[in-house]
Amino acid sequence: MERYEEAARGLRAALSADPAMLDLVRLATLAPNGHNTQPWRFAVGDSRVRLLPDLTRCTPVVDPDDHHLYVGLGCAAETLAVASRAHGRSGDMAFDDRGDGSIDIDLSPGAAAVSELYHAIIRRQSTRSLYDAVDVPSGDLTLLEAAAAVDGVSVMLVTDRARCDAVLEHVIDGNTVQMADPAFVRELQDWIRFNPLDALSAGDGLFSGCVGAPSMPTWLGKWLFSLVFRTGAENRKYTKQVRSSAGIAIFVGDRQDKDHWIRVGRSFQRFALQATALGIRHAHINQPVEVPSVRASLADWLGIGDQKPDLIVRFGYAPTLPMSLRRPVAAVLEAVD
Ligand SMILES: Cc1cc2nc3c(=O)[nH]c(=O)nc-3n(C[C@H](O)[C@H](O)[C@H](O)COP(=O)(O)O)c2cc1C
Repeated sequence: MERYEEAARGLRAALSADPAMLDLVRLATLAPNGHNTQPWRFAVGDSRVRLLPDLTRCTPVVDPDDHHLYVGLGCAAETLAVASRAHGRSGDMAFDDRGDGSIDIDLSPGAAAVSELYHAIIRRQSTRSLYDAVDVPSGDLTLLEAAAAVDGVSVMLVTDRARCDAVLEHVIDGNTVQMADPAFVRELQDWIRFNPLDALSAGDGLFSGCVGAPSMPTWLGKWLFSLVFRTGAENRKYTKQVRSSAGIAIFVGDRQDKDHWIRVGRSFQRFALQATALGIRHAHINQPVEVPSVRASLADWLGIGDQKPDLIVRFGYAPTLPMSLRRPVAAVLEAVD
């Protein structure tokens, strides 16, 4: 783990007062993204970065319409904007659908705006553990809602225990469908890194140590995974995890298109950074939005008409776990046209 931890720390090294563009890109790559596939490319110009989707890093089984891929892209775009503003650059962004799903972020000089969200970029993580069941004070819930406010996105915070249990039922329904699908299980397993060396050489994927699981050779990890990854056990795990959480946040884009999926990602990342700044952890429970029939049933329960829930996270208090890795910046650069 020593080399792993050193690499994770290096990725999160604090920036100098006048950082290079590539340092800002490094912070952007720390954004959350599904299965840690890092589905992005950065074309770095003199005063602009164009962020492009990397469709070779899609996850077609769990995310057939690439909706979570674009949510992840939105998370990276928002991270780059927050970091740029903290270092006196504009950070304004435009989704200009040239058909390639790219986002332009203006890095020309602007007023410096260092926020607590900026300082949280290097500390944020998905914390997939049991939380301590302590409520989040209402003032902090208000701060979370305010931070997540992005045009075109609604955020619903669920803290009432009975309502959290109703969302949990959708998580269990979705999980049960997914666990019965061998293609889903295979795709997930392909992105798991069972030991620090594999995680380091790939620089992507889901390192088992990030959920507190022991390290082991890949062949053994795959064999054990097929034995212990069972529907009943997973559903019991999610039940305990949700019941240990202070609440659940559900993100709903106004429309189902790339622009709105990116907006959902921006809103979620602002929520996650504000939560981190307040010492509040978060972890995804997206199963209900990944299975169409369960997504429709959750939309009904939420009373949101034709809209669809796009992303779901639980939040609360817990110690941190090991931080995840990213590929080096050089691996995500795109030639500027
Ligand atoms: C759109 C999106 C979907 C995600 N879905 C899940 C999920 O279903 N289950 C989960 O445990 N984590 C999920 N995550 C969290 C990622 O796995 C996580 O961000 C990634 O592994 C990097 O780890 P980090 O967030 O700790 O930096 C999702 C993240 C995003 C942005």
